[in-house]
Amino acid sequence: MKPPLRTEPDPATLARAAADRVVDTLQAAIDARGRARIALAGGSTPRAMYEELAGRREALDWSVVEFFWSDERVVPSDHPDSNVRMAREALLDPLGIDAAQVHAPRTELGAEDAATAYEIELRTRAHDDGTPHFDLILLGMGDDGHTASLFPGGAELEVEENTLVVASTAPVEPRERVTFTLPLIDAARSVLFVVGGAAKAPALRRIFDGDRDLPAARVVPRDGELLWMVDADAADVSPRG
Ligand code: 6PG
Repeated sequence: MKPPLRTEPDPATLARAAADRVVDTLQAAIDARGRARIALAGGSTPRAMYEELAGRREALDWSVVEFFWSDERVVPSDHPDSNVRMAREALLDPLGIDAAQVHAPRTELGAEDAATAYEIELRTRAHDDGTPHFDLILLGMGDDGHTASLFPGGAELEVEENTLVVASTAPVEPRERVTFTLPLIDAARSVLFVVGGAAKAPALRRIFDGDRDLPAARVVPRDGELLWMVDADAADVSPRG
């Protein structure tokens, strides 16, 4: 079955529409449980969405939102390639999010120890019935169909059900990563992919034609919602001029 897909005409509209979706999802969580727990995506695509969200200070009570990351590069948190740095610049600092609400992987420990420490933190902070159920996990997709830091053919794709966070190795720099696993992602109440640009069109087409091998295709929330929000270039429907 094809995942639900929403196509926006251009990157700016995609960023606004995705920000709308994030606000609606977090507000529903706050209405239901008095708080919301989100895992932020990395890479470059989410920046425009984060900047949109940073302009919506009045949209919801941000003080009850807990921020995590679905993956991180094992670099210092002030490194230009750090997903945490990008989110702090584009979203967390502009919104004035308190440090106590921010739970970043401790990359200074190195990949394996950072993954172990992050899993412990998730279990102690984020567990409901013993399983961390994120209200929203944001994901991107690489040109090769990877998502978070789950790469094609990677051993990280075949973990035990109760493994939540692992170290992985990217085919490009920065190679050392810490990433949510498929079991953790699939336990979410809502998963939102935000994907833009023509370079993503071949992988997106493979996924929506039913290819189950690509890591991003393997995200199938057990009980939660799944939505792919893409722009026309990624959906390969933009007029070829
Ligand atoms: C990362 C991301 C990764 C990202 C894709 C797409 O740390 O790189 O989490 O999964 O979402 O690589 O990256 P772009 O948005 O830069 O194309």
